Amino acid sequence: MSRARWLPPATALLATALLALAALCMLAFTRSGKRAVRTLARWLDARVEGFSEPDSRGYARVVAPALGRLYRRVADDLVAEPAAPGRDRHPGRETAVLDLGCGPGDLAAILVARLPGARVIGLDLSPGMVELARRHGGANGRLRFEVGDAARLPFESGSIDLVVSTLSLHHWTEPAAVFSEMRRVLRPGGAALVYDLRLLTVEADAMPEIARRAGLAEGEIRRERLNGGLLAGLFVRYRVDLRPAATDGC
Ligand SMILES: C[S@@+](CC[C@H](N)C(=O)[O-])C[C@H]1O[C@@H](n2cnc3c(N)ncnc32)[C@H](O)[C@@H]1O
Repeated sequence: MSRARWLPPATALLATALLALAALCMLAFTRSGKRAVRTLARWLDARVEGFSEPDSRGYARVVAPALGRLYRRVADDLVAEPAAPGRDRHPGRETAVLDLGCGPGDLAAILVARLPGARVIGLDLSPGMVELARRHGGANGRLRFEVGDAARLPFESGSIDLVVSTLSLHHWTEPAAVFSEMRRVLRPGGAALVYDLRLLTVEADAMPEIARRAGLAEGEIRRERLNGGLLAGLFVRYRVDLRPAATDGC
């Protein structure tokens, strides 16, 4: 009696997929493996993402709702910042918060609720995203959305207290220009928190050159790990801290 030599096709397919996944995971622990996984992720990202009107609607309906945990975590981080309202070094002045690459505006809407003393501006390159973001309402004029390029910010120098950005950095074609613009619009003592996907973001060893071209002094930008669970594994944060203005002691 002959024994079956072949696995049923579905089982074989599943086994092959599991083996491929295991190989990919093992590969991801080596330096060249990490590079290969990153290249593959970038290749996929370049193919599946675009922010035309229909893409923006799909993002707002499917992706943004799944990111609630990240947005809440980012809001917690911003509330704790020294430049946040209530902890302001300049009491009585309204704090300005800028969300770069705000997409459909879900984070900006959370921020305006969590930071009652702040004016929140969401800026995005995609008119489709900005149109969707505007559905969040005006929060008594404290929340607004604009179409614009993060590499050419339409704001006065030193007019913003906090810049935040989530999952946008890996789309910036001129990251040095964006960091330079952040530096220009931030007030002395202001900060920028830029969250991005670990697999797709600017690699750690590329950042010193970007920071140099952006005119950031040594120590003004740091790459940070996020604490805790899934967020820690998937995301990294670049943090820009501008030194507070020197006081004359009066
Ligand atoms: C993956 S979405 C992230 C949206 C949102 N921040 C979030 O976390 O859901 C990336 C966004 O960055 C925007 N973007 C890319 N390059 C930009 C630039 N140079 N200036 C402003 N926005 C930009 C895109 O239009 C898109 O809405």
